[in-house]
Amino acid sequence: MVQKPAFGPRQIQMELKEAIQRRRTTNRAFLKKPVSEEHIRELIYAANRAPSHFNSQPWDFILIQDREMRNKIGDIAADSMKQLIGKGDFFKRYQKYFRFGKKEIENDKSGIHVDRIPAPLRPFISKVFGPTGIKVMNSLKVPSILGRDQGKIVRESPLLLAFMLKKSEYRPGEKSGIYSLISMGAALENLWLTATSLGMGIQFVSTPMEVPQNWQKILKLLAVPDSHELMAIYRLGYTSESIKRPTIDWVSDQRREFEDLVSFEFFGNRSRPQAGK
Ligand SMILES: Cc1cc2nc3c(=O)[nH]c(=O)nc-3n(C[C@H](O)[C@H](O)[C@H](O)COP(=O)(O)O)c2cc1C
Repeated sequence: MVQKPAFGPRQIQMELKEAIQRRRTTNRAFLKKPVSEEHIRELIYAANRAPSHFNSQPWDFILIQDREMRNKIGDIAADSMKQLIGKGDFFKRYQKYFRFGKKEIENDKSGIHVDRIPAPLRPFISKVFGPTGIKVMNSLKVPSILGRDQGKIVRESPLLLAFMLKKSEYRPGEKSGIYSLISMGAALENLWLTATSLGMGIQFVSTPMEVPQNWQKILKLLAVPDSHELMAIYRLGYTSESIKRPTIDWVSDQRREFEDLVSFEFFGNRSRPQAGK
């Protein structure tokens, strides 16, 4: 028989609220401390408690703690970052999300604010998206700086987690494809909030999946079978404010307000109906 949680509903709600408010993407390195077996089990338990269509639990996970494996994945991530920035693909692809001023992000309330840039780069920042942008970035060695940082934080993360969906469930184009993605989002958020409550951080390591040949290398390294789709790789570990931020870094604390988000009764109607009517 499943034991009911020992705490009451009020306490659960308060803990949940705090975890939601405190959850962040961790860009900086983690403490050099292995993630405990107990916490690993708690994270996977939380992910698997998420709702899924017909309780299909359409996921499987690979936990990567071995140093050699982490080094190899770190090398691939570093190379991916270097290529993406060096060729300008990354900025071209995701230009619309980048903000370089505080005012800009406060007005938009979305996107990421690149608030940490080495001094020699600052005068050129407005040119990043222009035709001379890539040239300037390369001459200032930005791809190498970002590649080096990316490789280091991935290699030194005590735990990497590969999230896979079963292809028998994840069938793009069919309803179960969407259902699997909804389930995956719920599982990841459960895992993320649990990590937050355990003093841990998470970051999505997306760079290898942006470079198709490097993604193939990851699939091979992790021996992902044909029956599964590798959806994402995350790095996890214990966080500390005392660890310094990366050389180039961003924050994204802004969120759109309630009034920006909702319509009442039909799309576009911003006037709130009177209560009880
Ligand atoms: C689907 C998805 C892809 C993301 N890709 C990356 C990524 O490649 N690198 C990264 O550092 N963060 C990535 N993020 C984190 C977002 O940038 C982050 O959630 C957002 O800016 C809000 O910041 P916060 O998580 O600190 O609240 C991703 C998040 C999601 C949900």
